[in-house]
Amino acid sequence: MAPRIIATGSYVPEKIVTNDDLSKCMDTSDEWIRTRTGIAERRIAEGEEKTKLLTLMKGASEQALRMAEERFPGSFGREAVDLIIAATCTPDMAFPAMACRLQAALSMEGTAAFDLSLACTGFVAALNTADAFIQSGRYKTVLVVGGDVMSRMLDWEDRNTAVLFGDGAGAAILSGDPRFGGEGREDRGFVDMVMHADGTGEEALHCRAMYFNEKEPAKEYMDGRRVFEFAVRKVPEVIREVLDKAGKTPADVSLYVLHQANYRILESVAKRLSEPMEKFPHNIARYGNTTAGSIPILLDELCREGRFKEGDLICLAGFGGGLSYGAALLYW
Ligand code: UT7
Repeated sequence: MAPRIIATGSYVPEKIVTNDDLSKCMDTSDEWIRTRTGIAERRIAEGEEKTKLLTLMKGASEQALRMAEERFPGSFGREAVDLIIAATCTPDMAFPAMACRLQAALSMEGTAAFDLSLACTGFVAALNTADAFIQSGRYKTVLVVGGDVMSRMLDWEDRNTAVLFGDGAGAAILSGDPRFGGEGREDRGFVDMVMHADGTGEEALHCRAMYFNEKEPAKEYMDGRRVFEFAVRKVPEVIREVLDKAGKTPADVSLYVLHQANYRILESVAKRLSEPMEKFPHNIARYGNTTAGSIPILLDELCREGRFKEGDLICLAGFGGGLSYGAALLYW
């Protein structure tokens, strides 16, 4: 049975850092950042949140669980979730996995739980995994969380990357359980997913350490130009691939929910697919690039704004460190 997304949630830190704030501590300007990326401000974790991606992931998950409880009163409860997958490249610790810590923080003992690391493609990879587990009958309802605290891995001396990222997390609950409308109707749930990676791209985008160490923070490095070129070439390609597999065309898609890395990348993808920008919702102006959080945060905003109608064909696509990229196609 094809699982559906039955609820979403998101959580971003309170602290807003504007482009003007950044221009006070590095050689940059609001004008440069806006015109090159579309970013106006981002959220940056501080205090306890800085050391706890867990706080962000818990906030996003609680929202999604609440939405599911409200949509299915009396039938949905936390015990319905049998697996938690957390996608992140900035876990708080080497282990336990964020998903295990999240399980404890949400009092959801009894679920299976594991992490998945694929940088900005992490959320799409986690959805892919959840979908495959549900379709195989192994699990019924999966809480998928994507989030990162990139601010603690940024090189604040490197204006090329520091201005691009923000912190945040988003969550989605996928279910194939008939009680939550997950029964396999043709026009519902996940249709197909495609994932790729080019491991030779390591030099273009990497962070050498695996977990957060406040005394000796690891620093992200990105060759922006190279990653930009990779994104504008590969994202339209992988979207066409998933559409072809499903016998659909770009025009059949109602909305494209893409990783938010740069507004110009969205424009370029739209152009290459000959699709109007109205089909490419975005929130990069407010959050910057939140890595594994960007797709689920946008998904949650759109869901709460009522932008998805039952039966709409939605295309999600992520890209980034790996160099990895993937797309998913689903009926809302
Ligand atoms: O989620 C992971 C995926 N990541 C991405 O998708 C990011 C992809 N890359 C990009 O979005 C763009 O390449 C950037 C936004 C990172 C850069 O835009 P660009 O149009 O490719 O600029 P550039 O790297 O060619 O730099 C142009 C100029 C350079 O100056 P010179 O050499 O021409 O004098 C840079 O030094 O802009 C300069 N520059 C800046 N100036 C002011 C670079 N960063 C800044 C800055 N403020 N923050």
